[in-house]
Amino acid sequence: MATPHNSAEKGDFAKTVLMPGDPLRAKFIAENFLTDVKCVNEVRGMLGFTGKYEGKEVSVMGHGMGIPSIGIYTYELFNFYDVDNIIRVGSAGGMQDDVNVRDIIFAMGAHTDSNYGFQFGLPGTFCPTATYDILEKAVNIAREKGVRYHVGNVLASDAFYKKNCDEADRYRNLGCLAVEMETVALYMNAAEAKKNALTILTVSDHLYKTEELSAIERQNSFTDMMEIALKTAIK
Ligand code: ADE
Repeated sequence: MATPHNSAEKGDFAKTVLMPGDPLRAKFIAENFLTDVKCVNEVRGMLGFTGKYEGKEVSVMGHGMGIPSIGIYTYELFNFYDVDNIIRVGSAGGMQDDVNVRDIIFAMGAHTDSNYGFQFGLPGTFCPTATYDILEKAVNIAREKGVRYHVGNVLASDAFYKKNCDEADRYRNLGCLAVEMETVALYMNAAEAKKNALTILTVSDHLYKTEELSAIERQNSFTDMMEIALKTAIK
């Protein structure tokens, strides 16, 4: 049942998979938040694990950097491994004045400068969104936790280092909360497979402010995001 990118057998993944970009972060999550952990994928170092959170089965696997990478792994999980729900847990660069470094963002929808949607042969653009049910659960958990959060659209961009470009200003003027590099492929794949998806982000840097995260702040906001994602996964 393996794919070129995943050596797991069918049934090795739980119905819900949490996905950070960094596979070592997937390992950290498995080792620190889950019990009864089994490693299910090591192909290309894109580590995947299945374990239990509060007694319920959950998987966690890296998705790598960028739209093509998350596009491959989420396509395979949805279509070949019968995964129903994918929650990306990542970081983003803030774009609005009221978005601070360390805030949490729930990506309601994803703009993009990528051509990933070209494959669907549409005459115009496609508006990929989170699954409302998971989004609502996650937002309720964040509210109960008392963390600072925002719900809105993010930009999934192909380029981290951009040349000659005021693209960010234009998206900022349209209310875009933050920039990251993956959500559009996750949401499009979920839509096509009729599955469920949500991206939760911590703001790690800001395009219009000089705020930076200290190591301890980075760890605390990561832990908040992980607890929200895990509680959402088992709800
Ligand atoms: N992820 C975290 N910060 C980012 C940024 N500034 N641009 C794109 N992706 C990011």
